[in-house]
Amino acid sequence: MACFFRRSVALQLAKVCGLSEDVFIPLISAVPVSKKQSAADLRVSVSSLLQNGAVAADGDLQTKTQALADQMKRDAVVEEVVAGRGVIHFRLNKLTLAQKVLEQLRSDPDGFGVKSELLRHLQGGRTLVEFSSPNIAKKFHAGHLRSTIIGNFIANLKKALGREVIRVNYLGDWGMQFGLLGAGFERFGSQEKLRTRPLEHLFEVYVQVNREAESDESLRSAAAEFFRRLERSEDQALTLWRQFREITVEEYKRIYQRLGVHFDHYSGEAFHQHQTQSVLDELMTRGLLKTTEKGTAVVDLSGTGDMSSYATLVRSDGTSLYISRDVAAALDRKQRFGFDEMIYVTDKSQTDHFQKLFHILRVMGRQWADRCVHVAFGLVQGMSTRRGEVVFLEDVLEEARSKMLNNMRLSSTSKELEEPEQTAERVGISALIIQDFKGPLMSDYKFDWDKVLQAQGDTGVFLQYTHARLCSLLRRNARETLSCCDVSPLVDGRSVSLLQHLLRYDEVLLQSANELQPRHLVNYLMTLSHLASSAHRELPVKGSSAAVAQARLCLFSGVRSVLANGMRILGITPVEKM
Ligand code: ARG
Repeated sequence: MACFFRRSVALQLAKVCGLSEDVFIPLISAVPVSKKQSAADLRVSVSSLLQNGAVAADGDLQTKTQALADQMKRDAVVEEVVAGRGVIHFRLNKLTLAQKVLEQLRSDPDGFGVKSELLRHLQGGRTLVEFSSPNIAKKFHAGHLRSTIIGNFIANLKKALGREVIRVNYLGDWGMQFGLLGAGFERFGSQEKLRTRPLEHLFEVYVQVNREAESDESLRSAAAEFFRRLERSEDQALTLWRQFREITVEEYKRIYQRLGVHFDHYSGEAFHQHQTQSVLDELMTRGLLKTTEKGTAVVDLSGTGDMSSYATLVRSDGTSLYISRDVAAALDRKQRFGFDEMIYVTDKSQTDHFQKLFHILRVMGRQWADRCVHVAFGLVQGMSTRRGEVVFLEDVLEEARSKMLNNMRLSSTSKELEEPEQTAERVGISALIIQDFKGPLMSDYKFDWDKVLQAQGDTGVFLQYTHARLCSLLRRNARETLSCCDVSPLVDGRSVSLLQHLLRYDEVLLQSANELQPRHLVNYLMTLSHLASSAHRELPVKGSSAAVAQARLCLFSGVRSVLANGMRILGITPVEKM
């Protein structure tokens, strides 16, 4: 659709410049509605034509722009071609615009945008996304929450664009802390509590054992002993560890479901712990592993052999490290899943860690390390719940739900809802996600529940509210929405703005996918919602003639489906009533 118009323009450019039309498709973009001074719909910058060798590099840019615009023909699709400053603007026939956009939205609403020609080169292939990855018995902090929703967004986006996606949760389920946890549980753990409130109890035990171990030598040696038993795969210790892990995974599965997130695989450090030896063997054979005076084993990453940069893979006591397990995990995943791209999502404090990891893989001759990406994000300050600082993911969900329910009661919008609690939770979660996705992921931000849950302004609540209002309009007029043939009533300014904005959806998806940044999609959906709510206000359905009502409903129905699909990519479940 968007490509139907791009192609029309490309065809003209091809004739004038004498290159294949495919060259021009990615250079033509839809004019953002907010910046629109002219009535232009599409544009192409002349410098992008220069870069692609479509026009000669000599002479004055403005003269060239004017000459190009003059040579281009006007036809039934492209009605006007105007030279701007270094850009050529194209104005489309508004009836054709409405017809093509609505036609496609009706015949394949879920393919709208995502199946665009512009995105075709991103289709196919397999992406592994590793995200969330909390640590057993420890806090699920705001960073884990960010990783969860960002990773989910990336996985949804890649999937929507036609790639196969494997979602992996890499649990922190190994290391000395499991010695402490095991020894602690043997002293003051309770199977009863572990069954009834597993995550809380494991955390309690972990906090207590850490505190007491500080002054209790015997507890410290019990912990070291427990960890040794684990490393020797001793039955009893391993059974307890396994129980902690299984219970934790079960709990997380349930909570992730409330959040609308799922994983294809729960792996963890423990599993790859057993594979670190073969990594070390390979490094040894390749002559890449050096033993230092301190007794540690390191890989030289300087490239010059002077150890100005290196990674430690084995401690002096012979135990492996976080990074050794990550090397083993990467190799194992490559073999098992055959991905052609792997994405890790963690806060920016782990940037060096991942750069080292990719570097090690490269010196091990794994060229695919170039297709490994670390998506880093900044810190969230001040996210707390009534229980204080965030410790459990579920507390965040409870807080979002109860605060949102309260707001809904105050504005008495919740009265007719069958499941106000569930709606409040969905809307509350959308609000969290939007707040988090608004800015560049690398920025730190300060969290504020009141701001997050506002109904006005660019919030998740506003998106949901717009979606619910469109649903209610369509519900009330269910019969008329089925077909729409006559688009002639859709030539007013508001309808045209909506259509022009729809024309840009594929470009926004492309930008989000290229940069792995949700804010482009968030901004797009905000503008879509603002345009939709003013159209909803100004373009009545009730009281209009049958033809006008039908055309408007058809437009609103298309807008609703783009809004819903965009929200789903962000990881938001659109509500139909609120
Ligand atoms: N469990 C780690 C943490 O909480 C995050 C794991 C990130 N993934 C990885 N492959 N190292 O910090």
